[in-house]
Amino acid sequence: MSNAAAAADIKCGALLRKLLRELLPVPLENVYRMPMQFKSFDTAAFLRDYWQKRPALIRDPWRSWHNPLSPDELAGLACEDHVESRLITQSSDDWNAEHGPLPEARFGDLGKSPWTLLVQAVDQHVPDVAALIEPFRFIPNWRIDDVMVSYASDGGGVGPHFDHYDVFLIQGLGQRRWQIGGMCDDQTALRSHEDLLLLANFEATEEWILDPGDMLYIPPGIAHNGVAVGEDCMTYSIGFRSPSRKELISNWCDELLPTLGDDDRYCDPDLSLQKNPGEISASAIDRLHSMLTEKLKDREAFAQWFGEYNSTPRYPETDWRPEEPIGSEQLRELLEAGHPLIRNPASRFSFVRPDESKLLLFVDGQSIVCEDIVMLVAEELCAQEKFNADPEWLSSNRVIALLTDLYNRGSLAFDWS
Ligand code: SIN
Ligand code: CO
Repeated sequence: MSNAAAAADIKCGALLRKLLRELLPVPLENVYRMPMQFKSFDTAAFLRDYWQKRPALIRDPWRSWHNPLSPDELAGLACEDHVESRLITQSSDDWNAEHGPLPEARFGDLGKSPWTLLVQAVDQHVPDVAALIEPFRFIPNWRIDDVMVSYASDGGGVGPHFDHYDVFLIQGLGQRRWQIGGMCDDQTALRSHEDLLLLANFEATEEWILDPGDMLYIPPGIAHNGVAVGEDCMTYSIGFRSPSRKELISNWCDELLPTLGDDDRYCDPDLSLQKNPGEISASAIDRLHSMLTEKLKDREAFAQWFGEYNSTPRYPETDWRPEEPIGSEQLRELLEAGHPLIRNPASRFSFVRPDESKLLLFVDGQSIVCEDIVMLVAEELCAQEKFNADPEWLSSNRVIALLTDLYNRGSLAFDWS
């Protein structure tokens, strides 16, 4: 097949898919959107002075802010069953949470009391919201979680609470009053509520009204409360991941357990007489303890496991796998014809460097060893969300094999926008 024919064939397939997706409730379009850019935000100074240290109010740092999603589009997402959403309604001094998918009619009978709609991981469904993550790539890919979007009616909010992760709260539309309070932890008193972790006591230490484009950074544990001022208040929360020690130990042990046999046991051929048979000797404890720590401390195995674990998609519904797998020659022809590749926003691309000569690329829960030119390509894939193939890449069968594999797994796609 000629280059043009291959391109036309795939483009037709993509157009057909696009049409089908338009008929589907949520269009999962594999298109690239130009990210908005910061005009005045010193990211190095931010990391030095604020990141994980103290809240920061950043007034409209954008070259030109525009709200990437309309309230109606957000409401549409909340009606989809593969999208995670919550509706919080307020009555006097209490909050009530309903989990999505919400029936469309629900938005018609909300009444006058303040309410908030929260939709999780909107970046995985809406390319314009995915583009909102790009300016935040000054934080490593593996730390970035997703973008939650909220809509609130006048006076609406989720109540005073704290989160276990860092968050940038970007005001998209309308206004919100943000108050911040002190540092909280697992001992902080909460209101008894089934679904919401609301603080029993909240005292604001500072407050601001945010306008469209304004941004508030809140480190983990800081109490905060956002209340819509007027109608049509939309907030974009860029959330980050920070695994707890509990999560790490539990999941790393789950990974190790199947590799451990029953014959790998405590042994003491050097046992000597001891004064009191009741004592578990220090040397026995040392030996038992090292049986445990030796395995847990295997740094290389841990690095590989962690990269795979961390890159496992949380919402695998954002499925970009082609209907028909592409062949490597067809992919090469499309790249030669100048078609750029883009990353699936649900696929976290990251890597570790076991040594100078190679890296381990992590995508969608898998690890791939990359050396020589493939290593350079893997670095590029992790650094750019959209890229055109270098002519040097195209002459390498190993590079084409990697890209074909990632394309067929739905981690990469051609951008037809
Ligand atoms: C919101 O967008 O209303 C809540 C975000 C947050 O407080 O984390
Ligand atoms: Co919060």
